[in-house]
Amino acid sequence: MFNIAVLVSGGGTNLQSIIDSVNIGYLSNCSIKAVISDRDNVYALERCRKHNINTYIIDRSLYKDKVSDKILELLEGKIDLIVCAGWLSILEGKLISKFKNKIINIHPSLIPSFCGEGMYGIKVHQKAIEYGVKLSGCTVHFIDEGTDTGPIIVQKTVPVYADDTAENLQKRVLDEEHRALPEAIKLISQEKVKVKGRKVIIED
Ligand code: GRF
Repeated sequence: MFNIAVLVSGGGTNLQSIIDSVNIGYLSNCSIKAVISDRDNVYALERCRKHNINTYIIDRSLYKDKVSDKILELLEGKIDLIVCAGWLSILEGKLISKFKNKIINIHPSLIPSFCGEGMYGIKVHQKAIEYGVKLSGCTVHFIDEGTDTGPIIVQKTVPVYADDTAENLQKRVLDEEHRALPEAIKLISQEKVKVKGRKVIIED
């Protein structure tokens, strides 16, 4: 069994796409062993309760710069892949080195555009529209020591229309996120993903 932990901070629609992908058999060899939230009272936790998934709250206001150490303590030796799905806290320290190329993140733009420090949520889509891009999309990448800088695994594109608002672009991108993240998890669980420097090679 390929054991997954999912890190959340909000509504959990990406978490739901993973839950659904396991339940319909698309991620047949995967099991969500734990969901960790950096705050209480988020709907992602409610989704877990509906599916009897173990949850842990590592409150960022209490743990501050010890959030990553606490995650490592909880997951080391038990988890094959950590998935950041709408996770808003920084991951750092031993967690990154002990789980090298075993932590992935979904970002709502085509990295390296509209990413990095402070670029999350609706802000990403506002910047894309302001810039006048014709394509946007989402990126699943490995987490490294930087912010949104790790090797890219999967990207999916969406058109950007002249009359788009940030909200309807966000919805269009989110629909693709719900396909990209399970796809990346599936490839990794099947050992089809090889990292060579900055490049990720997907084997057939
Ligand atoms: C999504 O746009 C995701 O790309 C970003 O957080 C947003 C909310 O995700 N990382 P979710 O609905 O909480 O999964």
